Amino acid sequence: MDAREVRDPAVTELLRCGRLEVTGRILSASNATLVGTVEADGVTVECVYKPVRGERPLWDFPDGTLAGREVASYLVSESAGWGLVPPTVLRDGPFGPGMVQLWIETDTDVELVDVVEPRQVPDGWRVVLHARDHRGNPAVLAHADRPELRRMALLDDVINNADRKGGHVLVAGDGAVYGVDHGVCLHTEDKLRTVLWGWVGEPVPDDLLDGLARLRRELDGSLCTTLTEHLSRSEVAALSDRVAGLLAAPEFPAPSGHGPAIPWPAF
Ligand SMILES: Nc1ncnc2c1ncn2[C@@H]1O[C@H](COP(=O)(O)OP(=O)(O)O)[C@@H](O)[C@H]1O
Ligand SMILES: [Mg+2]
Repeated sequence: MDAREVRDPAVTELLRCGRLEVTGRILSASNATLVGTVEADGVTVECVYKPVRGERPLWDFPDGTLAGREVASYLVSESAGWGLVPPTVLRDGPFGPGMVQLWIETDTDVELVDVVEPRQVPDGWRVVLHARDHRGNPAVLAHADRPELRRMALLDDVINNADRKGGHVLVAGDGAVYGVDHGVCLHTEDKLRTVLWGWVGEPVPDDLLDGLARLRRELDGSLCTTLTEHLSRSEVAALSDRVAGLLAAPEFPAPSGHGPAIPWPAF
């Protein structure tokens, strides 16, 4: 599926109403992350299904809210016109209510985030962290310098993403870039934890400011009501505050200094 097909409203409708069948489970995942298919009228798409019941309790996020946060993150990305999150809905399934997200077929040859020796950093990449590997040799965490990744970094500022690992950045077969795993987002307290720190202190480009302005208009309207189906009122208010703050001071923020700035493991 190319990016245009992914954004076809019929896909979201299919995810919401089609027949959901579970075919497997991602064993490396931290929650019960299932894979399956959704079918209606002879059309089938692959999906991820995370039942609320399979959510691992966390100390800082209220129980049973991660699926809703994934849907809210998708709605924010769509409202800004960024198309960064695969279509995601909340619905019932074989293991009860959960989030269902379109599966993105990835191009496994393309990596946008990597840990490499300092002299192996690809041309034009941005270095985020200098570290040492398990043998004590220098290693760096770096990511590509691409507009889509910068947009994702801004999305993460907006949704206050506490877990943007390298493995949560997907490159589809057509080159489109998607972010996944937005269960630990949209908390009221600053929890930004990401590998995409490459633009700290740089101005937010105009096209992304347009998206932020669009998002603010939507938050002043119907999006606010829709989001309260998935988030608390104070979480929606905190989201609005972050958007207003970025519009007032349009630059990529630095780590807050509270808690780790980079998720571990980073992939
Ligand atoms: N929509 C998707 N399309 C393609 N691959 C996905 C999608 N969602 C998740 N994945 C893959 O599955 C892995 C585990 O999913 P993730 O959402 O990170 O689960 P968990 O919440 O358990 O960490 C991801 O790192 C990614 O490789
Ligand atoms: Mg994950």
